[in-house]
Amino acid sequence: MPQREGCRAGGGGRMECSWKTVLLLVCASLGVQYTAIRTLRDSLSGPCRGAYRCQSRYHGDSRWAALCDDSWMSNDSPRKHILLFATTRSGSSFTGQLLNQHPGIFYVFEPLYHVQQAFTNSSSRMRRSLDRRALLGAYRDLLLNLYTCDLHFVENYIHPEPQDHVTSSFFRRSSSHALCSPPVCLERMDAVAFDTPDESWCPKRCGALNLTLASMSCLSKEHVAIKTVRVPEVADLRTLSEDPRLDLKIIHLVRDPRAILTSRIMAFADQFRAWKIWNATGRQPRYVDLTQITSTCEDMAASTETALQRPAWLRGRYLLVRYEDLALDPKAKATEIYRFLGLEMEEKVRAWIAKNTNSNVSAPSEWNYRYSTTRDSKTTAESWRLRLGFDIVRTVQKLCNETLALLGYRPVCSAAELRNLSHSLVEHRTFQPVT
Ligand SMILES: *[C@@H]1O[C@H](CO)[C@@H](O)[C@H](O)[C@H]1NC(C)=O
Ligand SMILES: *[C@@H]1O[C@H](CO)[C@@H](O)[C@H](O)[C@H]1NC(C)=O
Ligand SMILES: *[C@@H]1O[C@H](CO)[C@@H](O)[C@H](O)[C@H]1NC(C)=O
Ligand SMILES: *[C@@H]1O[C@H](CO)[C@@H](O)[C@H](O)[C@H]1NC(C)=O
Ligand SMILES: *[C@@H]1O[C@H](CO)[C@@H](O)[C@H](O)[C@H]1NC(C)=O
Ligand SMILES: *[C@@H]1O[C@H](CO)[C@@H](O)[C@H](O)[C@H]1NC(C)=O
Repeated sequence: MPQREGCRAGGGGRMECSWKTVLLLVCASLGVQYTAIRTLRDSLSGPCRGAYRCQSRYHGDSRWAALCDDSWMSNDSPRKHILLFATTRSGSSFTGQLLNQHPGIFYVFEPLYHVQQAFTNSSSRMRRSLDRRALLGAYRDLLLNLYTCDLHFVENYIHPEPQDHVTSSFFRRSSSHALCSPPVCLERMDAVAFDTPDESWCPKRCGALNLTLASMSCLSKEHVAIKTVRVPEVADLRTLSEDPRLDLKIIHLVRDPRAILTSRIMAFADQFRAWKIWNATGRQPRYVDLTQITSTCEDMAASTETALQRPAWLRGRYLLVRYEDLALDPKAKATEIYRFLGLEMEEKVRAWIAKNTNSNVSAPSEWNYRYSTTRDSKTTAESWRLRLGFDIVRTVQKLCNETLALLGYRPVCSAAELRNLSHSLVEHRTFQPVT
């Protein structure tokens, strides 16, 4: 923490002392970006509603003014760069749909999958620490390029390598409205298609993905939203958050770690075989791997604690959302999310919520294209309590006690308390955006 504090205080100072160097570097890198984007734009005939803009906070600063006033950067569109920052099985597919349904948003579902795949395959000989830093750097590069609508950049990571900017291997393409409708896809889809659990319908009906067309589609939308479960901590996003070319809005989605674990055990049965045995027998196998859930909890807590300190680089850019609150009252929570984003919640979003949550009071706890086709409004966000042995629950509570306390999830002391759904383990909490 002291180190982070030091960084924060030093950020401004460093800029004062050597802003010329910074400016020079920024100029150089913007120059490269500019050339790249102009080349891209020149090759596109689609409308360009400004992939770049300078944040207003930089306009008052004479050091940035020269850059910001450049005509290619100034535009009227308050383009938002939205990041749904989540963890595996925390309800991010469902939450992502709240963004995907907005007609003005270009939504991409977990593009960092490709980066992780590429690194996993190529770098087994690299040292772990180097690995992690390089991986996070590559994540940020890809996010920045996607936010500025350069979808060609992802080609570096897709396997097999795309030919002529066309690929059949784009991860979870069917989850992105923009990648499965005109101009990217010639066929106009009925809304029903997007609600099918089958992941292959979009490539089947639209053919291979032309990434040039995808870039055009991105440029024609007002905003870009990306969902990822691969960035460990919000502090890893600081570079992007401070980037003057972006107006980053981070929606940090969290969920009760006991629910996350239950959902992972059910979805990834092979990987979680030891946990299944533990759940069935009530006895912990010696070889069960506790590190994954532990680091999930640590990452969630670290991000939440960072946000609670309200660092300048998160002001106006960070909202904590508990999935349980969203599941309990999707309409109200979605409204809150859109208010934070500074966007209208379009009728399409409302309609989608009404249709996919069956009633206006509860969202299905396991909503996901791939693993669940039923939208049973009776399954609540707390249904995990009927699916996890008390012995496991007790262990997770011990491993994650700080996280539970921080986010307002109550621990249970007995199996009876665990199974008694008439008292909720989700404490009432209000999480305001960081201001
Ligand atoms: C990595 O290896 C896996 C399994 O061998 C393969 O399915 C995947 O396509 C590879 N990915 C890349 C980017 O090479
Ligand atoms: C992809 O789309 C672009 C823009 O319409 C087009 O020029 C290009 O020929 C397409 N690529 C292929 C392989 O069809
Ligand atoms: C939604 O809420 C309203 C008012 O609270 C209620 O009248 C209506 O029946 C609810 N709709 C569903 C589908 O449960
Ligand atoms: C744990 O075991 C119970 C029965 O003992 C079962 O109903 C439940 O589905 C299991 N949970 C998981 C996550 O496999
Ligand atoms: C979590 O557990 C540790 C070790 O048992 C303890 O020191 C700490 O006070 C606990 N934290 C909370 C918030 O309960
Ligand atoms: C379940 O919890 C409620 C509220 O705490 C309590 O009134 C009730 O007696 C409990 N039921 C059982 C079966 O323990």
